[in-house]
Parts: sequence; structure tokens; C-alpha cells
Amino acid sequence: MILEVNELAKSFGKVVAVNDLSFSLCEGDVVGIVGPNGAGKSTTFKLIIGLLRKTKGDIKIGGYDHQSMEAKRLFAYIPETPNVYDLLSVEEHLTFIAQAYSLENYEDYAEELLQKYELADKKKKLGRELSKGMRQKVSICCGLLIRPKLLFLDEPFIGLDPKAIRVTKEIFQELKAEGTTILVSTHIIDSLESVIDRVIILKAGQMIMNETIAAVRDQYVGSESESLEDYFLKITADE
Ligand SMILES: Nc1ncnc2c1ncn2[C@@H]1O[C@H](COP(=O)(O)OP(=O)(O)OP(=O)(O)O)[C@@H](O)[C@H]1O
Ligand SMILES: [Mg+2]
Repeated sequence: MILEVNELAKSFGKVVAVNDLSFSLCEGDVVGIVGPNGAGKSTTFKLIIGLLRKTKGDIKIGGYDHQSMEAKRLFAYIPETPNVYDLLSVEEHLTFIAQAYSLENYEDYAEELLQKYELADKKKKLGRELSKGMRQKVSICCGLLIRPKLLFLDEPFIGLDPKAIRVTKEIFQELKAEGTTILVSTHIIDSLESVIDRVIILKAGQMIMNETIAAVRDQYVGSESESLEDYFLKITADE
């Protein structure tokens, strides 16, 4: 088990953002996390990576406490809103990550990622000069560069063009084949159906489903004409 989340909870004052959440991920799992706005997806990511302090619960990454250095070396997190440094160029972002993680022989992979995301001719551009989509791409390249065992992406497709979305999905498949575990949040469940094995559905901080895509299709989606999205809207609707 690369990730174990046990009875995780987080409150902001009176707001219970995440309530009694337990799930685990194995090597090579590609899991989607979906839920309406405010369901607790981003909070869950931030709790797991240690960016927010949990109110309750236990999280282990690769068997280590999630706050430990050992755990931190295993994962990359690509946030909802990309953090790029205004005054670092695209290539300096990658060099910075390589130094922070003491990566060796990363240059070819960095070049490959920049090519795939059509950033190769933008290497000298500064963070502050990048468009929204370009920032998102730089953020993804930085996350991938460290070749994490566990990859967290919070709505990575927002702002990406169709080519970059396709490239990202192809990369998911390559990473899965290498045994990388991926947890990805999305609002457009149908767009991920072909790449994810399993889906976790959150509603108001509560996990209401954790099933394989195949099981959801077989057991829950009513008819051939009903899409996963139809089903998802039905079960997350307010009574
Ligand atoms: N820093 C904060 N302070 C107070 N409340 C917060 C904070 N961050 C999140 N919340 C609350 O926690 C709940 C879950 O928010 P979260 O950002 O995790 O949702 P989400 O599922 O990522 O939504 P979205 O689809 O809009 O990104 C919401 O009720 C939100 O208002
Ligand atoms: Mg969010």
C-alpha cells in the first residue's frame, strides 16, 4: 500500500470540510476523486501532503508518516492553482526542482517533458510572462520531473488545451505501467473514464463511493445511454 488514509477529518471552525475519510491506494492505481464544489477534494489533497493540519486521523505514505522526509521524497503534488515563481524562467523551474530533490541525469527527461508540453521554445520565458495554461504545464512538468511513486493532481485539466490534456492522459498510462500511483481530482468524470481504474466520490466532506469504474458501470449506471456523469450528478444531488 503506497497511501493509507485512516479516519481523516478536518474542520475549519464549524465547517466540517472532510469527515471520517478512509481509503488506500496500491502501486499502479489510478484513482479519480470527484465531488461538487466544496466537497472537500482540495482539502483532502492538502491534508495528505501536509499543507494543512488535520483535525483527526492518520496518513501513511509508503508506510511512513506523511509528514516525514521519507514520505515527502515519494510524492509530487500539482495544486489547483499552479505555483510558479515570477522571476524564474521555465527551465530554471526544472533546475530548481532537480536541485531540491538532488536529481541526477534529469536533463533528458526535462527536455522530453518540455517538448511534450510544447514549452521547449519557451524555456527562457519568466514565470510572470506565462499564460494560465503554460503555468499549469510548468507545474505539471515540475511534478513529473522527480518521477514520484505517488502523484497527486488537483484538477489538472482546467486551463489545458486539448493537446496537453491528451499528452497528460498518455503520461498517466505510461506512469501506471511503471507502477506509479495517481490520485487525480476532476469535475469532468467522463473525460477520465478511460484512464482511471477507480473513483472516489465525495459529497460535503463525506466519501459516498469508492468503487472500480467497471463496478460503477455494471451495478449503478442504469442504462447504456446513461453516462457516468449522469450517475454522478444523480448521487451527488441535494435531496
Ligand atoms: N482555508 C479555509 N478556511 C475555511 N474554510 C475552508 C478553507 N478551505 C476550504 N474550506 C471549506 O472546506 C470545504 C471544502 O473545500 P475544498 O476546497 O476542499 O473543496 P473542493 O472539493 O476542492 O471544491 P472545488 O471543486 O470548488 O475545488 C468548503 O466548505 C470550503 O468552504
Ligand atoms: Mg478544489
